[in-house]
Amino acid sequence: MSNERPNDRTYPPPADFAARAHVGSIAQYREMYEQAARQPAEFWGGLAERELVWFEKWDKVFDWQPPQVRWFAGATLNASHNCLDRHLTTARRNKVALIWEGEPGDSRMISYQELHRLVSRFANVLKGRGLKAGDRTIIYMPMIPELPIAVLACARIGVIHSVVFGGFSAEALKQRIQDLEAQVVITADGGWRRGKEVRLKPAVDDALKDCPTVEHVIVAKRTGSDTNMQPGRDHWWDHLDKEVGDVCPAEPMDAEAPLYVLYTSGTTGKPKGIVHSTGGYLLQATVTMKWVFDLRDEDTYWCTADVGWVTGHSYLVYGPLSAGATVVLYEGAPDYPAYDRFWRIIEKYRVSIFYTSPTAIRAFVKQGEQWPASHDLSSLRLLGSVGEPINPAAWDWYNRVIGHGVCPIIDTWWQTETGAIMISPMPGATPTKPGSGTLPLPGILADVVDLKGNPVEPNTEGYLIIRHPWPSMFRTLWGDPQRYEDNYFKKIPGVYMTGDAARRDEDGYFWVLGRVDDVMNVSGHRLSTMEVESALVRHPAVAEAAVVGKPHEISGQSVVCFVTLKKGDYDQDVLGQELRQWVAREIGAFARPEQIRFTEALPKTRSGKIMRRLLREIVTSNSVTGDVTTLEDLSVLTRLAEQHDDD
Ligand code: WT7
Repeated sequence: MSNERPNDRTYPPPADFAARAHVGSIAQYREMYEQAARQPAEFWGGLAERELVWFEKWDKVFDWQPPQVRWFAGATLNASHNCLDRHLTTARRNKVALIWEGEPGDSRMISYQELHRLVSRFANVLKGRGLKAGDRTIIYMPMIPELPIAVLACARIGVIHSVVFGGFSAEALKQRIQDLEAQVVITADGGWRRGKEVRLKPAVDDALKDCPTVEHVIVAKRTGSDTNMQPGRDHWWDHLDKEVGDVCPAEPMDAEAPLYVLYTSGTTGKPKGIVHSTGGYLLQATVTMKWVFDLRDEDTYWCTADVGWVTGHSYLVYGPLSAGATVVLYEGAPDYPAYDRFWRIIEKYRVSIFYTSPTAIRAFVKQGEQWPASHDLSSLRLLGSVGEPINPAAWDWYNRVIGHGVCPIIDTWWQTETGAIMISPMPGATPTKPGSGTLPLPGILADVVDLKGNPVEPNTEGYLIIRHPWPSMFRTLWGDPQRYEDNYFKKIPGVYMTGDAARRDEDGYFWVLGRVDDVMNVSGHRLSTMEVESALVRHPAVAEAAVVGKPHEISGQSVVCFVTLKKGDYDQDVLGQELRQWVAREIGAFARPEQIRFTEALPKTRSGKIMRRLLREIVTSNSVTGDVTTLEDLSVLTRLAEQHDDD
């Protein structure tokens, strides 16, 4: 437990920003917050009427039988209809929906009308492959327009989609296809990253050796390189497109029908399939575009996340398109061909709202101010951060070098499970403090408590929880309702446990401190220690492995592995390299360990549980101060610490 004083410099919203904002004062925020807390059904019901288009209305706004919740059950709507069709009867019909920039410098502008046509056609393609409401697809693609098109086409006909980040390996892809029992995989030949082709189709071929449920693979052409196509199973997107028409009515879906499943890391080796609903999810993704991003029709909005993560789902596709925004989608790396690519894109398209991660910001800090300084960033009016706590030094740089001191910074706390932003400033209302997500949004009854569920004193560390259900909360884990209940709602019955530690200061501001479980956060991506351990022990030389996160100046945390070997003669340098590569291949390059440390034994409790806490101390401070009375073999620890002195 740490009780260091929070950094409490305060930045009030700029007056001219507040004057034009959707929510323009802290008093207005408080009024909304109180109304939502007092009358949640009226509050969310009213928003649902105003912010979304429904085919049929609900009888009851929500029904909470912990841990099960239903929002707007019985009502029908369609997410793709809300993201597209509803704009076609307004002036937005010819507004640019997507500004796409490919890494090599090619670009495309797609209006709402055109996007509607492309999505409808691809929905017809999916129907032509026999897909219907309730069926499942896996989408494994680079950041090209076909990715959001595939997502929205699935939504249009009620097909449950699961996007797998293109950086995941064939093995990780296979796991997800199998768990979801998907019938169709949508992919591309490859994409561009740092000037090189990243091939995707070969990984799909690899994964499909073991996925009997998959009947069809649809392949978009991006790089044009030679691609193996299995007759009968594999089809080029553009060939299938020739066979279909422009008209595909949006299927009325129950508000509670699953919209998508997104896999994320838990504390076991098996990823969890987070299931999101249609109505509640879309409502909150939409309203937070106004509350948090203060979106206006004239904005050009850019979120740098990949659609493969939840940020890309809620804040590149569903939220901004439902709210009628112009969205920038960029295919490639931030440093290609040089470190100014992001600033070049902001200047080129006059981006006004920019949403990225602390990891990206820290990488830019390191490269120096000359990169942003050579571009006109005066179009920016709001900056966002997501994925991990932002350290005050990175916050200051973001504020001064990118925002020129005139853009409010929104530090947005949320999770794959929450579906939408939960704790964040409202930029025209909430004074910000660098490093704090500030206050929960209306309707979000967040608190910091002890294990009995009692609020802890100000400036004391505790568990971050949310008491009342909210519309965009996940509904279950795919195929594992018991794990849903056990993981999130058991410790304090009926209360959602976020898995984060936090403290509130004397102003009620939230300071998120990090995970309380064995989950790492590497470059803003959640990664389970167990997942990396499972990958390591699949290697023939490895007997046992224990993995911990180590603080890292750019990525927040890096992966450090303690490994014991089976009997044999090994060159540890060669094997160390091989194991790092092995993990990258088993999970994905972002999971590549920074360090492999070979050891004779791992510290364990008497019951055989690996004491990761001690290993964490070793990698962080190289000393062990915690309680070690349950250690099976104290000498193991001494050896691990000594070994480090030799490094
Ligand atoms: C975990 C969720 C939500 C989109 C990206 C990550 C950490 C996220 C913040 C923030 C401090 C943050 C938490 C959370 N986190 N945003 N603004 N300040 N911590 O989604 O993979 O589901 O990870 O990321 O630890 O629990 P995710």
